Amino acid sequence: MRSLVVGATGMIGGLATRSLHRRGAPVAVAGRDAGRLAERSRQSGACPHRVFDAYDLDGCEGLAPWAARSLGGLDRVVVAVGVAGFGRAERVGEAAVEHLMTVNALAPMAVVRGALPLLEAGGAVAVVTGAVVDAPPQGMADYAAAKAALATWLKVVAREQRARGVRVLDVRMPHLEGGFAARAVTGSPPVLPPGADPVASVERHLIAPLIGATGRQR
Ligand SMILES: NC(=O)c1ccc[n+]([C@@H]2O[C@H](COP(=O)([O-])OP(=O)(O)OC[C@H]3O[C@@H](n4cnc5c(N)ncnc54)[C@H](OP(=O)(O)O)[C@@H]3O)[C@@H](O)[C@H]2O)c1
Repeated sequence: MRSLVVGATGMIGGLATRSLHRRGAPVAVAGRDAGRLAERSRQSGACPHRVFDAYDLDGCEGLAPWAARSLGGLDRVVVAVGVAGFGRAERVGEAAVEHLMTVNALAPMAVVRGALPLLEAGGAVAVVTGAVVDAPPQGMADYAAAKAALATWLKVVAREQRARGVRVLDVRMPHLEGGFAARAVTGSPPVLPPGADPVASVERHLIAPLIGATGRQR
């Protein structure tokens, strides 16, 4: 089950990488922070790794072809890239809005666009959106809108790919412990309730569906 994890430097991507590696899957990892990415690679058997930035959309689209070349093919893709942003809509600056849309919507779309032609029947992509798609809170209009745009795009792509036997999964992860909100690109988070356990949540909401009934190990 040759797998690419994009956003492997983050909490969710890091847990997904560790889980896939422990299951014996050959993994390739991509992330922005070069030092943390090298560490993730070391922890996963010195696996192939590549630095990228979400603003380089062509680079995002090139990640799956790179992983397929590195691993001799590609069966699974995880996209766990994102950044939070807070504030009433009229107080969020345009640069921050562009940032939220690029990192949370355009970059994941570009990664998936690059992966689709490489995945064969039985292949799968899992993209982390979030519970905000179903229940967008006040003070998160732009973050929630970016995730909702991504979710709509994934819904259409999933229908397009069904006949090919490629699964496209929208992972509406609940709020987790781990400080994602504190790393916001703009604004300050409201007081949030305690989050769910990250390890258990990644296994339940991401890894289990990704591997799925057709997730034969290879
Ligand atoms: N944690 C939660 O409670 C929660 C709940 C629902 C959904 N989600 C979603 O899950 C995803 C991952 O969240 P997380 O909790 O793992 O957050 P995280 O630990 O902050 O990880 C975020 C990831 O996105 C990457 N990233 C951010 N800006 C980037 C950029 N400009 N270019 C390239 N990569 C960039 C980070 O790269 P570097 O670290 O290398 O900079 C990191 O790999 C996000 O899409 C988030 O919206 C999270």
